[in-house]
This record gives sequence, structure tokens and C-alpha cells, in this order.
Amino acid sequence: MNIPVITIDGPTASGKGTVAQILAGKLHFHYLDSGALYRLTALSVMRSGINPDDTGQIASIASSLPCHFEKQRIFLEKEEVTDAIRTEAIGNMASKIAAFPVVRRALINLQTGFRKAPGLVADGRDMGTVVFPDAELKIFLTASVDVRAERRYKQLLEKGISDNMDSLRRDLIERDRRDTERKEAPLVPAVDAVTLDSSVMSIDETVERIFRLFVQKSNNCS
Ligand code: CDP
Ligand code: CDP
Repeated sequence: MNIPVITIDGPTASGKGTVAQILAGKLHFHYLDSGALYRLTALSVMRSGINPDDTGQIASIASSLPCHFEKQRIFLEKEEVTDAIRTEAIGNMASKIAAFPVVRRALINLQTGFRKAPGLVADGRDMGTVVFPDAELKIFLTASVDVRAERRYKQLLEKGISDNMDSLRRDLIERDRRDTERKEAPLVPAVDAVTLDSSVMSIDETVERIFRLFVQKSNNCS
């Protein structure tokens, strides 16, 4: 039997991670935070001091990332890096190295390995277009730049990090541009994706919409 996958792709701070985790919990599915893998690679690259343009070395780091996930906690070897990988500096480095095709290829097997029974919810940029092209349901989750910048600002404040709203907004636009314009696996909706604009939708409403779409699809297929 084919193991069902729901993919949620979209730009930064559109709510993908939050919504995907709640949905996975509701369906008792596994959860893949693919952005975390790019962030873990970025953290390792920054720490190792290698040249951030040395694609071969970065791909080699990505292909043997010593990481593991425990519920909502993320580890690199034995060190918990759940918060350490969430900074905007790591996000920007992740977006730079994510543009290298060899790095993307090096992370494919790790990502597809998350597809286990009874199912998977995967969030990122290319989950529906590249990694799980046969997913049962593909969502492209967006929100306006202003709403996303505001959400990220509040999220950082809750973690005790006070950022400058203008530079945060600029970084967010720049990261979206880089992710959208790159040649390999750009941030675009899959042709068969349902686009949801969450600018005026709460987290619960968004989860409910996707849940209902999935139930409808599953009923149509059975
Ligand atoms: O994973 P992604 O970068 O797309 O976004 P996220 O980290 O899930 O969400 C960014 C922030 O927006 C979090 O603090 C969420 O709680 C918040 N959020 C919201 O307020 N309303 C939504 N509809 C979705 C997310
Ligand atoms: O949480 P947020 O949406 O800000 O970022 P993320 O999902 O943690 O991803 C960090 C960066 O990794 C993104 O800006 C992308 O450049 C890259 N990424 C990617 O290229 N493909 C994915 N499937 C996931 C992330």
C-alpha cells in the first residue's frame, strides 16, 4: 500500500511548520521539517569554517548529517540545536546553500526516509514538486509579506530575541527572492497543489481546511 503524504510548501513564516506539526499530530502521522535539514547543514558549515562556496564539501556534510529528531527537539550528534538553528543568520545561510543542486541531491534520501506508515506530513519548499511528487495532497501556503514579517517578529520576541522589524522584513523578502528564483527546485506551487492564503486565517482554521481536504481526497480515492 502506498504510504500517504501531505506536503505543505510555501515562503518563510507562512505558518507551514506550525500547521504541519498540528496536522501530523491530529492524523497520527510522522512529520518532516525539511527546512531543519538545510538549517542543520548551514550550522555545520558555519561551525566547520569551510568556504561557503565549496559545494563538494557542503554536499559531503549534508549527505552524512549526524542528526536525529525527538518529538519537537532536534539534535546534531548529542547536542540539542532546536533553537540554535532558528536564527535568521542560519536561515539565510540555509537559503544560500540550498541553491546548490549537489547539496539538494545529498539531502533527498534523508527526506524520503521519513515516509513511514501510517503517513507523513512534510513541510518545506519543494516537498510537492521534487521530493514527494506523488503526494496525496499538496498545499501551497502563503501569506502577505507584512503578515509574515509580523508573525516572525512576534515569534522571535516570544523566544526573547528582539530583532529590527525593517531588517527582518528585508531579509524575509531577500530569502523569498533567492528561494523563488533559484534554478534547482525553486519555491513554486506544484501544478496540482491547492494554494491557501493564511493572511487572515488562524492556525486552527488552516489546519481544519487542510484536514478536510485530505479527508475528501481519501474518500474520493477509496
Ligand atoms: O514554518 P514557517 O516558517 O512557514 O512558519 P511558522 O514558524 O510555522 O510560523 C511563524 C509564526 O507565525 C509562528 O509563531 C506561528 O505561531 C505564527 N502563525 C500565526 O500566527 N498564524 C498562522 N495562521 C500561522 C502561523
Ligand atoms: O521556517 P522558514 O520557512 O523560515 O525556513 P525553513 O523552512 O526552515 O528553511 C530554511 C531555508 O532552507 C529556506 O529559506 C530554503 O532556502 C531552504 N529550504 C529549501 O530550499 N527546501 C526545503 N524543502 C526546505 C528549506
